[in-house]
Amino acid sequence: MKKIAVLTGGGDAPGLNAVLRAVVLTALGRGVRVLGIRDGFGGFVEADGTVELKEDSVRGLLWRGGSILRCNNQYRGNPDLFVGRMQELGLDGLVAVGGDGTLTIAAQMHERGVKVVGVPKTIDNDVVGTDLTFGFDSAVSVVAEACGRLIDTGESHHRVMLVEVMGRHSGFLALHGALAGGADVVLLPEIPYRPENVAAVVRGRSSRGRTYTLIVVAEGAVREGRGAVADAVRSARSGGERLGGVGDLVADELHDALKGLHGVRAMQLGHLQRGGPPTPFDRVLGTRLATHATWALLEGHGGLFSAWHRGEVTLAPITGAAGRHRTVEADDPLLTVARAVNLSFGD
Ligand code: F6P
Repeated sequence: MKKIAVLTGGGDAPGLNAVLRAVVLTALGRGVRVLGIRDGFGGFVEADGTVELKEDSVRGLLWRGGSILRCNNQYRGNPDLFVGRMQELGLDGLVAVGGDGTLTIAAQMHERGVKVVGVPKTIDNDVVGTDLTFGFDSAVSVVAEACGRLIDTGESHHRVMLVEVMGRHSGFLALHGALAGGADVVLLPEIPYRPENVAAVVRGRSSRGRTYTLIVVAEGAVREGRGAVADAVRSARSGGERLGGVGDLVADELHDALKGLHGVRAMQLGHLQRGGPPTPFDRVLGTRLATHATWALLEGHGGLFSAWHRGEVTLAPITGAAGRHRTVEADDPLLTVARAVNLSFGD
């Protein structure tokens, strides 16, 4: 191979720049040039959509949030068009860094004969076929830090504090964030809650002299018998489903159920979870996943993505991850651990 491309698709996640740095340094080390495609797959069709990445381009990137190539989670393109552009640009292969949407397009390009490898990214940790995605650990730290701050203010005011966190229809971020942040209740998409059970936790804590209750609500959390809550305005603006608002709904339910026993406040943590520097863990994980994917590509493999399996980097078929998402399984040992330390699911 003489020239490969790299792009960062989907929503951004801490560690993208560390991954770009690793792809570029690994390829240059083997004498292969790297073209960056800007704005996810959008750069294939935009004027000025590509940039050559050299050693100097990736200096200081290890700890920088965002993506120097920028991201795009709204662009739905035509894989035939991208394949044609790869040929026009003289590209021998592609490293696609992204979540299930990006890996889906990568899989379609692979079916059309392009040598493409993936690096799994998302703060949601919901890519099928890998135990971990880079960006997740950094987002968990943000959630955990927010929990500590909310406990401080909630405790001072005798309040129930709710924080709605991202994760789409998977509860990994909420579960890990709640455990790390010392929450009392976590509401997950995978375990429907009942408002009366959540209120019972608050009353129980109150009767034991606790002056606050902290509740982490996954944006995809569902009340028993109902569906996930979409944010109508953001969904309409973005032309696809955007979850949001369930934290406020739970706050209303608790306000009614508690009848003034405690004040209730809810907030959305939002995109604070996506920005900022990656944790050292994500820097190392991103570097490892990127290096292995690039090695595979340079050795002539395609249709694979690098995955984290039982503490090691492996390579898995990209088609297995395309168009699917992973959720917290009912037998996940972390659920048992959570219950052992009195973290309630409101079920
Ligand atoms: O998939 C990553 C993610 O951050 C989800 O957790 C969240 O639901 C969504 O993207 C938000 O997307 P947007 O950037 O369009 O607001």
